[in-house]
Amino acid sequence: MNLRVFDDLAALHAAAARTIVQRAQAGARTFALSGGSTPKPLYALLGKSEELRALPIIWVVVDERYVPIDHPESNAGMIQKTLFAGGMAPAHRFLRFHTEVNDPAATARAFENDWGQLGITTLDLVLLGIGDDGHTASLFPGTPVLQVEDRIASEVFVQRLNMWRVTITKPVIRAAKTRMVLAAGASKRPILEQVRAGADYPIAQATREAGETWWFVDRAAAPEG
Ligand code: 6PG
Repeated sequence: MNLRVFDDLAALHAAAARTIVQRAQAGARTFALSGGSTPKPLYALLGKSEELRALPIIWVVVDERYVPIDHPESNAGMIQKTLFAGGMAPAHRFLRFHTEVNDPAATARAFENDWGQLGITTLDLVLLGIGDDGHTASLFPGTPVLQVEDRIASEVFVQRLNMWRVTITKPVIRAAKTRMVLAAGASKRPILEQVRAGADYPIAQATREAGETWWFVDRAAAPEG
């Protein structure tokens, strides 16, 4: 496990931002961004980077709660308010899930179509979070989307949340050149320890032996020993 442990969240976000800027300066063009709370300050930092604004980048939403973009739970909405707070750079593109069509399967298909139109093959970097139950993206334990191998994106009904989600699939995450998992807070330590010990949670299925994967964690989340 390529673990980088940071004294606090500010240091973690600053290091993650440096990594992303450096990858973009080295030619990376497609960056997939997860939702949730951990990465929000990172996206605000990236939104202030003049280096990034000057480079042609496609930002891709990793997954979406099936709500309108102006809903407080929307991942695309959160990215717009952070990464694009100062307006999206002319050289940038934003691939999101269009939940306004009110049909999760159609939203996933439209995302795949947009992906093709943008000429995306594999992602250069995918930024992932990890849930206390070991989910990542909207790949929740026990959901059928974990078995989807022939799609770029898929809809999934998450019983535990009683909600529809749309998400990029496990093969897309595994095929990315680099995975970067952000985890912060004591609630993530148990799951990180179990993943390091070989537990087969979705985050492990999406990263294990998939190539370069970095785990950026704060001290509270860092596995013991
Ligand atoms: C989402 C995310 C999800 C997230 C984890 C961690 O839509 O919620 O894509 O996979 O990354 O749930 O969320 P936190 O960063 O808020 O702990």
